[in-house]
Amino acid sequence: MTEAAVKVHRDVPLTRAWTYDASFPGPTIEARNGHPILIEWMNALPQRHFLPIDHTLCGAGADKPEVRAIVHVHGGKVPPESDGYPEDWITPGKSLTYLYPNAQDAATLWYHDHAMGIERLNQYAGLMGVYLMRDDHEAALGLPGGAHELPLVLCDRWFGQDGQLRYSASEDPAAPWVSEIFCDAHLVNGKLFPYLDVEPRRYRLRVVNGSNSRFYYLSFDPGVVAHQIGSDQGLLSAPLELATLTLAPAERADVVVDFSDAAGKNVLLKSQSFQLMQFRVGRGRPAREPALPRKLRDIPRPRPEAAVTTRTLALNEYHDAGRHRMLMLLNGKRWHDPVTERPRLGTAEVWNLMNLTEDTHPIHLHLVRFRILDRQAFDADEFKTSGKLVLQGKPIPPTPDEAGWKDTVRAEASMMTRILIQFDGYAGRYVWHCHVLEHAANEMMRPFEVVETPT
Ligand code: C2O
Ligand code: CU
Ligand code: CU
Repeated sequence: MTEAAVKVHRDVPLTRAWTYDASFPGPTIEARNGHPILIEWMNALPQRHFLPIDHTLCGAGADKPEVRAIVHVHGGKVPPESDGYPEDWITPGKSLTYLYPNAQDAATLWYHDHAMGIERLNQYAGLMGVYLMRDDHEAALGLPGGAHELPLVLCDRWFGQDGQLRYSASEDPAAPWVSEIFCDAHLVNGKLFPYLDVEPRRYRLRVVNGSNSRFYYLSFDPGVVAHQIGSDQGLLSAPLELATLTLAPAERADVVVDFSDAAGKNVLLKSQSFQLMQFRVGRGRPAREPALPRKLRDIPRPRPEAAVTTRTLALNEYHDAGRHRMLMLLNGKRWHDPVTERPRLGTAEVWNLMNLTEDTHPIHLHLVRFRILDRQAFDADEFKTSGKLVLQGKPIPPTPDEAGWKDTVRAEASMMTRILIQFDGYAGRYVWHCHVLEHAANEMMRPFEVVETPT
């Protein structure tokens, strides 16, 4: 991890960024199922942060070193000591060697900073990259590869006239935390409105939403034939024709787009009215390519009846009177409260995420993959006052793009979102949190502990 001067646009002066290996986003790591790797993560950042630290937040007190970093592979099934627990941060000059077993299905994973209390600043500064898990099954599908496969890391940022990153802060210099950040500049792979010359053929795009708070609603203009083939934790059961693609912070999509009907045209990738990038499609004769496989992977029907425990967990926000700001909590508990979620290794649980707020919260659990069962409205006032769960209307099944294996779920406003989680892998301490990074910082993040089943 080093500070570097990066070029975000031809007409913008060099930007100071914090990077993995001097590149923003960091180098793409390509891992293969069955081939474990070790990575030595070295903190070679400066001693001072260049973004506004809020020392009133949990874990970011003025007694802590200002620059701290820890790496988490999001979506990785990794032993707890290599998972990047938020409090396991290291200071400049130190390093950590992490083991990635790579014993999981092919998927678009990503890695990013997770340092307690400043993760949102470290990621905003540039500490993120893509981690592609590959396996033999995927390799046999004949999907576009090599120069025809590209990661697309999306994120929004504020820039000053001088080309430097600005992070909006609250009015109170002693407590600069803000509840979310929406910026006017959109970067794709660290570039401002880039273009890419492409051939009139199929491409595979591995799209990652790396924004702190922003949701993307992606589409192509003019429209081209695009299929989503995977989500957070790998391939869907079958290709899904795409119109608009919604991605909350930390969600990923694996997309095959076909430019063969757009020879000689410029195709924009947009999010609502924002232009993100342009594909300049060459004239040449469209390539002859085999059809996309009709079936990608077996995705079993979720079996909630196999769950050993159902937990009902509130997502709520509170007015923090002392500081005149919001506090967001998972089930009313703060980071330092004792661990309350202790699933047994090898078992499945249903978690009912009760969203009592007016925002969608993208909820992520480390270590595991899960399935979305459904979403359903409920009487939030009744739930808040008596704790009684009064359901309303009908359960709504997940849309086909979220019917595969997930690790981040949009818990929608005023809805109960039910997920079925398989706690496989390792026993130990992990975290679950909202992936709006500003929420996670105050304090929409909790530990959970996977415990061994007694024999
Ligand atoms: Cu994207 Cu706790 O991680
Ligand atoms: Cu994660
Ligand atoms: Cu949130």
